[in-house]
Amino acid sequence: MNTQVKINRLGLQGDGVADGPVYAPRTLPGEVVSGTLDGARLTDIRIVTPSDDRVQPPCRHYKSCGGCQLQHATDSFVAAWKQEIVQYALKAQGLETDLRPIITSPTRSRRRATLAARRTKKGSMVGFFGRASDVITEVPECQLLDPALLAGLPVAGALAVLGASRKGPLAVTLTACAAGLDVSVVGGKPLDGPLRQSLAQATEAHGLARLSWDGDVIAMRARPVQNFGTVQVLPPAGAFLQATKQGEAALLAAVREATQGAHRVADLFAGCGTFSLPLAADAEVHAVESDALMTDALDQGWRMAAGLKPVTTESRDLYRRPLLPDELARFDAVVLDPPRAGAEAQVAELAQTRVPCIAYVSCNPVTFARDARVLVTAGYDLAWVQVVDQFRWSAHTELAASFTLAVD
Ligand SMILES: C[S@@+](CC[C@H](N)C(=O)[O-])C[C@H]1O[C@@H](n2cnc3c(N)ncnc32)[C@H](O)[C@@H]1O
Repeated sequence: MNTQVKINRLGLQGDGVADGPVYAPRTLPGEVVSGTLDGARLTDIRIVTPSDDRVQPPCRHYKSCGGCQLQHATDSFVAAWKQEIVQYALKAQGLETDLRPIITSPTRSRRRATLAARRTKKGSMVGFFGRASDVITEVPECQLLDPALLAGLPVAGALAVLGASRKGPLAVTLTACAAGLDVSVVGGKPLDGPLRQSLAQATEAHGLARLSWDGDVIAMRARPVQNFGTVQVLPPAGAFLQATKQGEAALLAAVREATQGAHRVADLFAGCGTFSLPLAADAEVHAVESDALMTDALDQGWRMAAGLKPVTTESRDLYRRPLLPDELARFDAVVLDPPRAGAEAQVAELAQTRVPCIAYVSCNPVTFARDARVLVTAGYDLAWVQVVDQFRWSAHTELAASFTLAVD
């Protein structure tokens, strides 16, 4: 049966939400839309009255690709919506603050992405999954990916031909670096002698910097280093890296500002040193991270660099074993950059300290606001929030925030 609804708002996944609630993907607030109701979801959607914020999607793959959710909206609408998400999350915790204008990464700037690559009868298919589906959409003209990653699509296809199993597609993470592509594959056939040999040949043939297969480094033709400040770090295969250079620069600028003047900084959830190493130009840094391969990479980078203050590293699970007030007492600034679940256990300990400033980088406004509430209740002031959009056209929102403690 055909149903007509008016969209009131966008939900957290970027879908339009009408009374009911009825969810209608790729619609905008104020629009009247019709379609077929399937449970709480509207399908086969037709836009009856379009919003003034509706635009022609810039990418020709948008219709079938699940990589982007918001290409049908103006940039200004998406920016305002992401700012609102942060504002609402804070408001739900009884908080408000100075929200700085959003910083959005340009098109074609994603320097790291994970693609699906499937072996087919005719060869291979590489791209992103469609929305809530296991069908791969090929994306040769993707508007998100850095040209270096676009050039890697045929490489992912060739790897699927060599080593994808019948069971499912490969997850191929491509990372751009000065030495070429750093490629990390998960979900392929088990490595045996012949596969290892053919993958090593493919590394040569495609001029890859490094190829790893389910965590095993097959070949490294050139060191796929990343620069953090003046330091070159060789990250472990498939390691986390901020999605765009511009996003990383915006987050680092915010972290620098929030920790300005600090002499001893604890960088928690430090990764390979995105923040620790640039901050070490001016401050001693203790970097803590659960993945020992990442802390080793950070440490190696620091050891090879000149002119930095001391940097120490610790591999530690901060969910189970957060730094305790006694351990935090020697720092005059703390940087937090946890995964989506936030930093509940660590923030509970921080709330019992007098660390003067905290820079909190978050990829989830809801868990950020939960943790911010704890810090504010403990006497911290949420000075400002900088929203950073490294995942343009997606429903994903990131931010950096500054907490300060009044000196008593
Ligand atoms: C959002 S990333 C940030 C990394 C780094 N700050 C950067 O900007 O590159 C979160 C980091 O937290 C680490 N992590 C995940 N769970 C953790 C835990 N329980 N304890 C400590 N670190 C953890 C991950 O390995 C990852 O490096």
